[in-house]
Amino acid sequence: MRVLSGIQPSGSLHLGNYFSMMKKMIEHQENAELFCFIANYHAMTSVPDGKTLARGTLEAATNFLALGLDPEKSVFWVQSDVMEVQELAWALSNFTPMGLLERCHSYKDKVSKGIAANHGLFAYPVLMAADILLYQSEVVPVGKDQKQHVEVTRDIAIKFNNEYGEVFVLPEPEIDENVATVPGLDGQKMSKSYGNTINLFQDEKTLRKQIMRIVTDPTPVEEPKDPDKCTIFQIYRLFLDAGQQEALRKRYLAGGMGYGEVKEELFVTIRDFFAPFAEKRAELMAHPEHVREILAKGAEKARFVARKTLSKVRKKTGLIY
Ligand code: ADP
Ligand code: TRP
Repeated sequence: MRVLSGIQPSGSLHLGNYFSMMKKMIEHQENAELFCFIANYHAMTSVPDGKTLARGTLEAATNFLALGLDPEKSVFWVQSDVMEVQELAWALSNFTPMGLLERCHSYKDKVSKGIAANHGLFAYPVLMAADILLYQSEVVPVGKDQKQHVEVTRDIAIKFNNEYGEVFVLPEPEIDENVATVPGLDGQKMSKSYGNTINLFQDEKTLRKQIMRIVTDPTPVEEPKDPDKCTIFQIYRLFLDAGQQEALRKRYLAGGMGYGEVKEELFVTIRDFFAPFAEKRAELMAHPEHVREILAKGAEKARFVARKTLSKVRKKTGLIY
């Protein structure tokens, strides 16, 4: 089974990114052929500053490695190091009806938030389709907000295959319903653009501050509380197994437990969970040349697969003459 996903280097990583995508990818390296990349072309749609993008790219790669991505068990690279993806994106553009892109929620959301509606933003899903199809991916682990993009990818692949024969594998999104949408501090979807994130790597003081900001209802300490309506619980449960979740649920329902107390526990849990990864991250940050070397090797492996697909596409579409 070939599994592929990418993450944009467009800001600090948060719990939503980790639980819906990064953790799944790291788990998949044990049972699948894993393709994982840093989507820096995509990040150009929201990071119009070269220095920031370059720094963010290396940082995102470092973070992924620190969290446990093993370059020996996966193909790990930076999107722009395999330029073949751009040629495929162009070929696919010709099989992408305007209406398909006009319906994309992610595009509409971004425009409604005031981001300029330029061609890069509009064509974003075509480039994402190229990422997925170039590597003949079968499974794409993503958060719920990316599901439509994988469906668009399938639509484009079907159109292309109808014209030229079975060139592309049709991918399936993989969405874990338990973590499909991780809530942020205010209970809305956790997202860097809403400023409601709990970030993975930060000092204790900032982490505590973020957790203390989680919005709760005014139920008094002694009264029973509903865990399903509580953002602290929804975040805390991501770190707990079924038994531990049940125990916490009982404490909520019994009353006598204040939100401050659970927040304090959540703080300690998150801090301790990420501490070993933070140590690994510090080591990697001290040796950026090592990270670059890993990425260069990954790009080489990725390019090998990319060229195979692209050469089929070039033949079929008449680019080889
Ligand atoms: P953001 O919304 O913070 O800008 P991205 O769009 O960069 O995050 O998302 C990167 C990955 O993390 C995607 O697979 C996306 O689906 C997932 N993701 C982001 N936020 C959440 C969330 N709150 N819950 C679940 N998955 C999320
Ligand atoms: N659009 C994805 C996001 O914002 C990142 C991405 C780019 C991606 N290309 C991809 C994810 C291909 C999965 C497969 O998170």
